[in-house]
Amino acid sequence: MNGRKILLVVGGGIAAYKVPELVRAWTKAGAEVRCVLTEAASSFVSPLVLQSLTQAPVRQSLFDPGEEGQIGHIEVADWAELVVVAPATADLLARMAQGMANDLATTVLLATRAPVLVVPAMNVNMWDHAATQANLETLRERGVLVEGPDSGELACGWEGQGRMSDPEAIAARTSLLLGTRSMHGNRMVVTAGGTREPIDAVRSVTNRSSGKMGYAIAAEAARRGAEVVLISGPTGLATPAGVRRVDVETALEMRTSVLAEFDAARIIVMSAAVADFRPANASDRKIKKEDLADGEGLQLEMVRNPDILAEISARRDQRVVVGFAAESHDVLPAARRKLARKGCDLLVANDISRSDAGFETDENAVILLTPDGDTEELPLLPKTEVASRILDRVEKLCGARE
Ligand code: PMT
Repeated sequence: MNGRKILLVVGGGIAAYKVPELVRAWTKAGAEVRCVLTEAASSFVSPLVLQSLTQAPVRQSLFDPGEEGQIGHIEVADWAELVVVAPATADLLARMAQGMANDLATTVLLATRAPVLVVPAMNVNMWDHAATQANLETLRERGVLVEGPDSGELACGWEGQGRMSDPEAIAARTSLLLGTRSMHGNRMVVTAGGTREPIDAVRSVTNRSSGKMGYAIAAEAARRGAEVVLISGPTGLATPAGVRRVDVETALEMRTSVLAEFDAARIIVMSAAVADFRPANASDRKIKKEDLADGEGLQLEMVRNPDILAEISARRDQRVVVGFAAESHDVLPAARRKLARKGCDLLVANDISRSDAGFETDENAVILLTPDGDTEELPLLPKTEVASRILDRVEKLCGARE
């Protein structure tokens, strides 16, 4: 969080009493914090307290020449790397959803290009109201992130959902959102998903890769500040924030795209399940079953696809190249042989015979292998966490090569 810039927009709700604790958590972690208060917010939390904690002027009015003269509202909106709205009252969420700019808080929220995290807090009936839920849905569709609310005893005396998340949970979420910037300045190419090799105009040979592992790596690298190019086979996944995606279908197209990005890349992670073979003579028309009698065989000649990983590993220079291995048995010895054959810097081996890991699952259990014989077996973890562990290794390899 060191030096990261957080703009806190404080809404007028009783939960604002938790805000100084949140600000303290951020400043302790080294973040720079600026506060904007709605008119109602200053009834619940003292601007002087926030000013003392942030050591920066607290802004409340759009039209105060003194405040605007110190830092303009657009300047505040541009300054932020992350905007957090806490507590986000029903009124503030409604005004955000409408795109209103009728006070400093909503004007800044409309002007900023930084990611926005809202932390709702209100009475349970206000939270459950269709209007509030519709406003939230609108905001979510626009990419606004939501933290909480928690359930429990509410300040108004009711029980239910509507409590603002604890400052500790908000601080943890913001630290995750801000990332580490530790990969800033590095361009990284990630391949993901399975390739699809056409047989004819409607049929193809493919595999079970969902792309989840590769997309998690791309998202984590972007979060760490890398410039990420994701070369993706067909998947149903959304492009992670801040990532440039190049869509491909076949292994040959994937090779062309990887080679096009190769020169500018510092790191290449080949997590795609590239088809080893493709039909030798794909027909551009549909092969008619009427041409064959029942039980008659259809001969399909397959030819080998180029090995992209081996090719780029051989000419990598200072680049760090990571390969994957999908193994169904004798995982470790097979992965060791694959690492030697492919010549990459790090190999991530999956046991695809497991039903809870490998293809399509949200979790993975991998072994990390390096050419010096080092092996590290990771337990079953969410693919997001596996991505993080792989990138920790990549960062070390990059550091050792500087
Ligand atoms: O996408 P998910 O559903 O999340 O599943 C993740 C995964 C299981 C697909 C992933 O974790 C994984 O293991 N990816 C590699 C799958 C694979 O093709 O393994 P392989 O052992 O056949 O290939 C070894 C390496 O060579 C891989 O890095 C592969 O990208 C690369 N390769 C393979 C063939 C080829 N012609 N060119 C290549 O570059």
